[in-house]
Amino acid sequence: MNERWYSKAVVYCLDIDTFQDSDGDGVGDIRGLIGRLDYLARLGITCLWLHPIHPSPNRDDGYDATDFYNVDPRFGTLGDFTELVHEARNLGIRVIIDLVVNHVSNEHPWFQSARSSPDSPYRDWFVWSDEAPSDRRQGMVFPGEQDETWTYDRTAKAWFYHRFYDFQPDLNITNPQVREEIKKICSFWLQLGVSGFRMDAVPFIIERTEPGNPNPEKDFEFLSELRQHVQWRQGDALLLAEANVEPAELTDYFGGRLHMLFDFMLNARLMLALARQDPEPVIDALRDTPALPDGAQWATFLRNHDEVDLSRLTADQRADVFEAFGPDENMRLYDRGIRRRLAPMLGNDMRRIQLAYSLQFSLRGTPVLRYGEELGMGEDLSLDGRMAIRTPMQWSQAKNAGFSDGDSLVRPLVEGWETLNATVQRNDRQSLLSWFERMIHTLREAPEVGAGSCQHVDVQVPRGVLAHRAIDRTGSVLFLHNLTDTACEVDMSSLAADADHPVEVLSDEGYDPITEDLAKLALNGYGFRWIRLRREP
Ligand code: GLC
Repeated sequence: MNERWYSKAVVYCLDIDTFQDSDGDGVGDIRGLIGRLDYLARLGITCLWLHPIHPSPNRDDGYDATDFYNVDPRFGTLGDFTELVHEARNLGIRVIIDLVVNHVSNEHPWFQSARSSPDSPYRDWFVWSDEAPSDRRQGMVFPGEQDETWTYDRTAKAWFYHRFYDFQPDLNITNPQVREEIKKICSFWLQLGVSGFRMDAVPFIIERTEPGNPNPEKDFEFLSELRQHVQWRQGDALLLAEANVEPAELTDYFGGRLHMLFDFMLNARLMLALARQDPEPVIDALRDTPALPDGAQWATFLRNHDEVDLSRLTADQRADVFEAFGPDENMRLYDRGIRRRLAPMLGNDMRRIQLAYSLQFSLRGTPVLRYGEELGMGEDLSLDGRMAIRTPMQWSQAKNAGFSDGDSLVRPLVEGWETLNATVQRNDRQSLLSWFERMIHTLREAPEVGAGSCQHVDVQVPRGVLAHRAIDRTGSVLFLHNLTDTACEVDMSSLAADADHPVEVLSDEGYDPITEDLAKLALNGYGFRWIRLRREP
């Protein structure tokens, strides 16, 4: 059954501009991406999430659109886009796109019109104040780069609200015309064949902002409305949301509203567990996350296109992660995060990288992987802020790592691409890329991970080891992860009664065959083992 395809999906996210250039202008494009779909199909991913594709002055890497009904001409045309969706579908890959409707670029015609006159039909599409709002220095998302959330516009002769940068005026969600327009944007892209949306900044979209009130009410009703609309247009369309909020608020976003939410809480706890070499934070996260209504799902990730956000950890916990993974000031961002790729954070140690990804992909939820992580790509800390990890994909030893024939690239390549690239790794059975292929293919044979329940196996294990299980009607899989570099032995005999011809389906190294009693399971330092306990007919 293909119902709720997203619970068994493997999502891969990329920026078109840094993936593959086909015309030599140094900027990735849709035709380039189409040419790389076979690579993605072989990797085993089933859903492609594209970062913003719309025309944009690119002051926030496309998260500042000037036209929601088009693609950035640097990427190609709408025709190219529909080809992409078609070709991807032929390979079993769905496409979802970023829906960035909390705000627009200040160059968007709607805002240009709105500021030009109080009588503009678009005036009320934005959020204005005649006086300087008392809370205008509160609620900034980018501390250090942004010092207010209300800015005076001299043309408009009024203050406008912007949760993010001052060139990203917020749309006014209380205006019915804005609500209708957002639905229309969704309909348009569904009609062109997308399978859904990654919704940007959802808690901010639904804020009923008013000057002087830094904690406005949220309009969850809009999410129900949008879900209804989207689902009516396309039954299996997905809404996957970015909502980095307190655990107690999370459930408001589900249940007839959004299908999936990124699990930011688990992300921070995973980083803490890796830093401390102690699984306790992950066990806490599994215990603390609220139960989800039917059909709702988490999206797990280790790295995304932004900084690793540690803001929901305690000061002590955050300090430990900073010390382990972001020791230099230059690696940190916004006082809360780390602007690095995973591989360099883990000392480019293959064992630790595989351990980390094995853990992410085996925990409950749908895994999301950022391009280049499957190669262990590095970062360029000489680039500004979040750009450090938005560098071109490293394909081969050819000019510009095979990314482009051009002479000037959208962003520089990270040093070392001559040896760290997809072609070199494709030909090496021991490479990270080959491992990712095996791991993802194994995962797709274990539907209980995405669709089933995930339980911590609460028995005595050596320090640093996490034992957890995925259980569903299809069967049950046991996962062992050793977060330390000390080899050990794990006793899982309490699960033997539940097992039926247990077999190992994935591990870091050839261990002895599994015995029926599950009593003495060896585990290498940074080792992991996926053991299928049973498969129901
Ligand atoms: C989200 C995006 C981020 C962007 C911001 C403003 O947080 O992930 O990259 O800068 O929204 O759109």
